[in-house]
Amino acid sequence: MRAKDIRAKAGTEPITMLTAYDAPTAEVVDAAGVDMILVGDSVGNLRLGHDSTLPVTADEIASLTAAVARATDDAFVIADMPFLSFGVDMADSIENCGRMVKEAGADAVKLECGKHTVDLTDRLTDLGIPVQAHLGLTPQRENETGLFRQATDDEAATEMLDLAKAHEEAGAFSLVLEHVPANAAAAVTEALDIPTIGIGAGPDCDGQVLTVDEVIGLTEGVAPFSKKFGDVRGEMERAIEGYVDEVEGGEFPAEEHSHVAEDLDTDDLY
Ligand code: KIV
Repeated sequence: MRAKDIRAKAGTEPITMLTAYDAPTAEVVDAAGVDMILVGDSVGNLRLGHDSTLPVTADEIASLTAAVARATDDAFVIADMPFLSFGVDMADSIENCGRMVKEAGADAVKLECGKHTVDLTDRLTDLGIPVQAHLGLTPQRENETGLFRQATDDEAATEMLDLAKAHEEAGAFSLVLEHVPANAAAAVTEALDIPTIGIGAGPDCDGQVLTVDEVIGLTEGVAPFSKKFGDVRGEMERAIEGYVDEVEGGEFPAEEHSHVAEDLDTDDLY
């Protein structure tokens, strides 16, 4: 799968995208036929114990992206560029994005966008680094905007549409729209040739993305726009409680889990 294949899917068939942060999860996501795997900075809240995505580093995303890329055969792997790893200085931004492709094996990078990412998108795509833009709720700006619905009035929706068009023109191959009204997302989707990928953005986007932890039911709760399709947390609890019970009850390890060295004379050991 290449960026041009994702781009070509716009308006044809629904595009699927899920996050993954480790190799075994990526293997399952890839085998299920998901089109794009995002190594999201949501790993900060979901796996690293932070309250937000802000502390996530480029080193962390690079390492997790490498694990995901090693485990993925077909899906398009996207590294989510963390807070301040891009947009401050052009050369540093290119270097940080470039290492995701060159060292970690990502196929593309995702940028939480604003006016400051238009030129960067242009430069990165010129250099052969596909860019997925992200508008609407961009959690890296949470100290500015809060984690609320975005583009809820005409002015904000127009600003989002203008930025969407600017990033398409700059070469972005797709656009994530997060937590925006379904009618605003539908209007952006209609106005663009590149596919829109919605999260809390209604049914009219070209594709959908969720965090895998919510989909499999690893998190305790899910965002109001998300959906739990499994109960991995419940399965983990059952398995771990079973282990604790058997160790404490002397049932584990049983004979089949142990081996004895026939030639070992334990009397010689002391
Ligand atoms: O970090 C992330 O997981 C994301 C998706 C929710 C789009 O940005």
